[in-house]
Amino acid sequence: MSSESTDGILEVRKYPDPVLKKVSEPVTVFDQELADFVKVLFASMRVHDGVGLAAPQVGVLKKIAVVEYEGKSYILINPRVIDQKGLQEGEEGCLSFPGIYAHVTRPNWVKIESRDLDGGIVTFEGEGYTARAFLHEMDHLSGKLFIDYLSNLKRNAIKKKAAKHTGGRF
Ligand code: NI
Repeated sequence: MSSESTDGILEVRKYPDPVLKKVSEPVTVFDQELADFVKVLFASMRVHDGVGLAAPQVGVLKKIAVVEYEGKSYILINPRVIDQKGLQEGEEGCLSFPGIYAHVTRPNWVKIESRDLDGGIVTFEGEGYTARAFLHEMDHLSGKLFIDYLSNLKRNAIKKKAAKHTGGRF
């Protein structure tokens, strides 16, 4: 399903890698390959000290993401928001933007409908930072990045900073 290094850890694509702006395809096959990929996604997230990681961030354009926060793990497959409440503002980062953080306003509570590894429909809720992580990862599945919520001025400043980090010239 993806290019895997020998230790099973996947390389995280950094902005401005064009794969980050692409829309992922829904998962239609629920097999061992999917379960193995989710396992590697969790391992890659932990190695990079992330709270979440989405498949497109490792170059796989499938609607799959993982979140792990305060000892709880969540698998998001073809996820969608079915309910939300309130608003929160807070600092947000992304493994595809090393060292870059920005304030983003998001719903404070969300209920998510997802598939499990067998293709069954599951729902789970998240509040505060967990809700933020779900929504951030789900944005990745639509090719949306956290910098897309910022003003042009702030976004351009971050683009310049990100270009320096990744060695890009423009
Ligand atoms: Ni991210």
